[in-house]
Amino acid sequence: MTIEFSRVSKQFGEVEALDDVSLTIDDGEFVTLIGPSGCGKTTMLRIAAGLEEPSAGSVAVNGDTPRNACREHQIGVAFQRPALLASRTALRNVGMTLEITGRDGALSPGDLLTDFGLGEFHHHYPHQLSGGMQQRVNIAAALVHDPAILLLDEPFGALDELTRESMGEWLGGVLSRSSKTVIFVTHSVEEATILSDRVVVLSARPGRISEVIEIALPRPRSRAFRTDDNFLREVARVRSSLYRAVELSN
Ligand SMILES: Nc1ncnc2c1ncn2[C@@H]1O[C@H](COP(=O)(O)OP(=O)(O)O)[C@@H](O)[C@H]1O
Ligand SMILES: [Mg+2]
Repeated sequence: MTIEFSRVSKQFGEVEALDDVSLTIDDGEFVTLIGPSGCGKTTMLRIAAGLEEPSAGSVAVNGDTPRNACREHQIGVAFQRPALLASRTALRNVGMTLEITGRDGALSPGDLLTDFGLGEFHHHYPHQLSGGMQQRVNIAAALVHDPAILLLDEPFGALDELTRESMGEWLGGVLSRSSKTVIFVTHSVEEATILSDRVVVLSARPGRISEVIEIALPRPRSRAFRTDDNFLREVARVRSSLYRAVELSN
């Protein structure tokens, strides 16, 4: 499925969060949004998920409204703080939206957890899981309807660097076996570079697209690749672009 932002602006009262953002994300593409805090990254995801309406412009998901796409369970969303209920086991957290909507999932919660390396942890409660495990449960919950689109807002932001790297590698592996369209938000230039087909660099508020960088690196990109010269060159390219975006808006 494609996601098309056409001249999207968003105001919250006096605050101008996004200004004239146009971006087309192709079917199966992994696109990362990066930019200074408050530049409207979360707002872009919320608009794409139909949780927020643009003040001007529009977003189309395969030509339809985000709301309709959401209603048809075509969009899965996971945020930085895992939205897990403390009183539910991992399994019942993943299956929660199935219970609420009374629908069968396209995927079985148990199979998802096992596939995500949590086969031993179906009946554990969130507090019994590490931060990385909780985030895998959270992403499993976002995938239970097998949506064509996955929106991830700084999912690994609260994790230590090494856990974060292995989670990035894990996510890259999970997604390489699917054909999902992904919008990913991160503050980490390395994470953006290793995971993405394209990195969209946003300026400080109001968020505007400063530059779109194609990451023409071969896949799969394992953790060892993080020390490869070609990878480091791309990281430098994205970092310079981010510096330019911040300077331009100062
Ligand atoms: N519901 C809201 N009401 C008022 N202001 C908001 C709301 N949501 C976001 N904002 C403001 O819009 C700007 C962009 O926010 P956000 O999209 O969360 O940025 P980012 O995710 O890039 O840090 C910020 O200044 C934020 O305070
Ligand atoms: Mg945010």
